[in-house]
Amino acid sequence: MALQLHPLHPLFAAEAFGIDLTQPLADEDRKQINAAMNKYGVLVWRGQPLTEPQQVAFAKSFGPLDIGLKKLFNRPERLSDERLIDISNVDAQGNVSKRDSPKNLSNFANQLWHSDSSFQDPRAAYSLLHAVVLPSSGGNTEFADLRAAYDALEADLKAECATLSAEHFALHTRILLGDDAYTDAQKKAIPPATWPLVHTHPGSGRKLLFVGVHARQVIGWPVSESRVFLSDLLEHATQRPFVYAHQWRVGDTVMWDNRATLHRGRRFPISERRELRRTTVDFTPEAMLEAAA
Ligand code: OGA
Ligand code: MN
Repeated sequence: MALQLHPLHPLFAAEAFGIDLTQPLADEDRKQINAAMNKYGVLVWRGQPLTEPQQVAFAKSFGPLDIGLKKLFNRPERLSDERLIDISNVDAQGNVSKRDSPKNLSNFANQLWHSDSSFQDPRAAYSLLHAVVLPSSGGNTEFADLRAAYDALEADLKAECATLSAEHFALHTRILLGDDAYTDAQKKAIPPATWPLVHTHPGSGRKLLFVGVHARQVIGWPVSESRVFLSDLLEHATQRPFVYAHQWRVGDTVMWDNRATLHRGRRFPISERRELRRTTVDFTPEAMLEAAA
């Protein structure tokens, strides 16, 4: 059965049907999904619970997987495969983490608008987040379309941003959240990455405004001026008309393009269990993605 799409928002994001994510992905289906990703930036698959190996296998069809910040920490893991990123508030023993645990710190960082791994080169292309256990309320994930954000910029800002780049740093969000006890080795483990504020999304040919909370400085600008400017741009990019809010159900998989969208988690009762798992595809498989065009 071929891929079918049902738009979820006037600007981007669609619900996807017609492909069984638990089965090996046919080349034709992969191409159709890539083409849909290029158009919509976010695809939502409902009602398909995935085992851990099934999630890894499906994600791997789109390119090599990366574990992002997990590289910095040597923490005991709950999940069976190191390529799975545990987006939960549950510790290695299966208990809900304490309020001030490192696990919750990561979750709070995920509640700031970001593009996964924009602090490293290569950064992320697709992320796939799968819902396993959900809290009784809250905990949506919101997405913002950076192509729409660019389109809506005033002409003078478009021109100015086109000349600028920003430095993104892995620990910036953690430091913002009051966690700065990192060793020099950890600070240096992922060197900052620099990205132009405006660039062209390879899959759609549309220009986009590449901001997000990992960006800590505009290259060549003072830190203070940079941060105010970056925060203004982020506010612009995440205006409600550019946002799709995903309300999770168990068995959902949301797949997004980190090159065209930002996302953030939303608050939920912290003593309740919330378990999702993520797989992230490196921004390397352009040749593979291109096959879909
Ligand atoms: C992520 C992320 C947000 C959430 O998994 O990359 O940012 O809602 N998650 O958990
Ligand atoms: Mn994320």
